[in-house]
This record gives sequence, C-alpha cells and structure tokens, in this order.
Amino acid sequence: MSPFWMLKAIGQETKRDWRVLDVGCAEGGRSKWFISSGCDVTGIDIKSYSNDYSERGLKFLQTSLEDYRPVQGFNVVVAMYVMPFVRCTWDVRIAHLTRLMERGALLLLTVFAPGDGRATEPNIAIISEEELSDLLQRHKLKVRYRCHEEYEGPTRQGNVMFCSVIGFVAELGA
Ligand SMILES: C[S@@+](CC[C@H](N)C(=O)[O-])C[C@H]1O[C@@H](n2cnc3c(N)ncnc32)[C@H](O)[C@@H]1O
Repeated sequence: MSPFWMLKAIGQETKRDWRVLDVGCAEGGRSKWFISSGCDVTGIDIKSYSNDYSERGLKFLQTSLEDYRPVQGFNVVVAMYVMPFVRCTWDVRIAHLTRLMERGALLLLTVFAPGDGRATEPNIAIISEEELSDLLQRHKLKVRYRCHEEYEGPTRQGNVMFCSVIGFVAELGA
C-alpha cells in the first residue's frame, strides 16, 4: 500500500497546498510522493534514520506522536505501520491522530491484522478491520476507502513471513 494508491482509490488528486504529516516516517519513503507533488511535508519519528532529511525536502522532527504539539493542523496525516508501536490504547492512538488534523483532513492509515506474522510479537498492538472501522467512525472519521491485503513477504533475516495488513482512508468530519 502506498499513499499514492490510497489517494487514487478515492479519486483524490494531490494538492500542492496541502500540509502533510508523516507519523513514524522512518527514512521518509512514504513522504516522497507528497514532496514531489509540491506539498509542505513534515515527518516525525522517535528515531532519526537519516542526516539528509532536509535535502530531500522533508521537515523532520525527532519526537513521538504522543508528544508532538504543532501550532497548526494538517490536511493529510499519513500513519503507515506506526500505530501498532505507539504505547497506549487504540482509542487514545486515534485521538492523537485526529488532534493533528484540520476539519476535512484525510487520514491514510495502515496497521497489521490479527493474522499477520508480527501479531504474536510483544509490544505490537493488533486490531481487526471491523474494530478499527468502528473506532474511526466514533472519532468522526468517515471511512472513504478500506482494504485488507494478504501476501507473503521477506523478513530482514531472509525468511518469508505471512503479512495481513489493513488500510483505511478516512476524512475528519465536523
Ligand atoms: C514499521 S516502521 C514504519 C515506517 C514507515 N511509516 C513505513 O511505512 O515504512 C514504524 C516506525 O514508527 C516509529 N515509531 C514507533 N513508535 C513511535 C511513536 N510513538 N511516535 C512516532 N514514531 C514512532 C519507529 O521508530 C519506526 O520508524
């Protein structure tokens, strides 16, 4: 899943004046599409993975989602494979995302499903597609697209792992 395809799935063009936040951005790979489209892109992560974020057009801040308090909200929040690592309840995780969003902003969210190979690892939070869908709606996030992909992917150790991942595009309502 990529931000590009998730936006395409709802027929949404990328806008040059968007303020975009990439939560748990790591090297910033998911931000590339927005940077090349002319958006103002901020990335946050508890770890820094690069010395040249700014040369690649990404405003990087080493901070956690829980601690991040920007002065302005964002038009798009990208949270791909990061929320399972944030240490709080699912309700609080989603509240942290919505407090960073302007009204009408889009959330591009991906998480691991219960069948994923990582589901049994400690400190990785898992949620089902239905539970997450209900939770988003309780937080005034209107689901515009959802998908559930299952495939075999390589691990860093060179093994093969079963991946079961859920993606949502949701819009923050009034
Ligand atoms: C599995 S990686 C995903 C990276 C990237 N979003 C992607 O889709 O490839 C999870 C990232 O989330 C970061 N992370 C974990 N907990 C975090 C938190 N509480 N706030 C911000 N980033 C966090 C980790 O340091 C790591 O870079």
